[in-house]
Amino acid sequence: MTSATDNLEKPSHRFSIGWKSRHLIVLVVAVIGTYLFLESRAQWSEMHRWNRAIGDMSLVMIAVSMSIGPLARLMPRLRTAIPWRRELGIYGVILAFIHTIIILAGWVEWDLVRIFGYQLHPEGFYVMLQHGFGLGNVIGLIALFYGLVLALSSSDWCQRKLGGNVWKFLQQSSYVLWMLIVVHTAYFLYLHFQDYHRSVPEPNWAQIPFAVLVSVVIVLQLAAFMKTWKSRRSGQRRTVEA
Ligand code: HEM
Repeated sequence: MTSATDNLEKPSHRFSIGWKSRHLIVLVVAVIGTYLFLESRAQWSEMHRWNRAIGDMSLVMIAVSMSIGPLARLMPRLRTAIPWRRELGIYGVILAFIHTIIILAGWVEWDLVRIFGYQLHPEGFYVMLQHGFGLGNVIGLIALFYGLVLALSSSDWCQRKLGGNVWKFLQQSSYVLWMLIVVHTAYFLYLHFQDYHRSVPEPNWAQIPFAVLVSVVIVLQLAAFMKTWKSRRSGQRRTVEA
C-alpha cells in the first residue's frame, strides 16, 4: 500500500531484498507479533484473546505500512524501506480477514444478523440490542472490503493492467482505510465494554499504546505534508525569480 506523499520517490536499491524474502520476513514478524499479543492477555477467554491479538497485529502492520512513505519523505535515507509497504499492507489485511472469521465463528456463531447488533428474541424474531456493536462491525466490514481491494491490487501485474495513474489513485486512498480502522478500533478499545447495566472488564492495556500509535502516524503524515508543501513553494518561487 502506498500513501499520498511518497509516490514521487524512487526507492534506492543499495540494500534491497527480493520480494520473496520480504514476504517471508513480514510473515515471521506477523506470527511473532501475534504470539506476543496473545501472551500479553493470557487470562482472557480464548476467543477474545485470539481475535484481539490478531486485530492488534493487523493494526500495527497497517500503521507501519502507512508510516513508511512519510518517513522516507522526511528522511531520504529510509527510502530503502519503501518496497516493504506492500508486504506489510498485504499481511495486515490477511490478519484482519482472520480476525473477522474468528468473530463470525466464535462470537456470532455464523448468525450473520448478530453482526449488526440484533439478537434472537425467545419468541423467534430478531431485536436490535447492541447498536454500537453493530455500527463498530459495519465500519470494520467496510475497512476489510477496502483493505482487500487495496491488497489484491498491490501487485505489479495489477499496476500494469490498471495503468499508473488509476493504480496510484486507488493506493493513495489507503488513508480512508486507515481512518476506518482507527474509528473501529477506538470504539472497541474505549467504548464498547463500558455499560451501566453490567460489570465492566479490566481496561485493555492497549488503550494508551493505541492513542500513541495513532498520534505518531498523524504527526508523521503532517510533517511529511509540510515538508512537501515547503519544498514545492520554494521551487515555485525560484522558477518565478528565474
Ligand atoms: C481492516 C479490518 C479490521 C481491522 C484492522 C480490525 C482491527 C481491530 C482491532 C485493533 C481491535 C481492537 C483489539 C483490542 O481490543 O485490543 C478490533 C476489535 C474488534 N473487531 Fe475488528 N478489525 C477489522 C475488521 C473487523 C470486522 C470486519 C469485524 C466484524 C465483522 C470486526 C469486529 C471486531 C470486534 C467484535 C472487536 C472486539 C473484539 C473483542 O473485544 O474481543 N473487526 N478490531
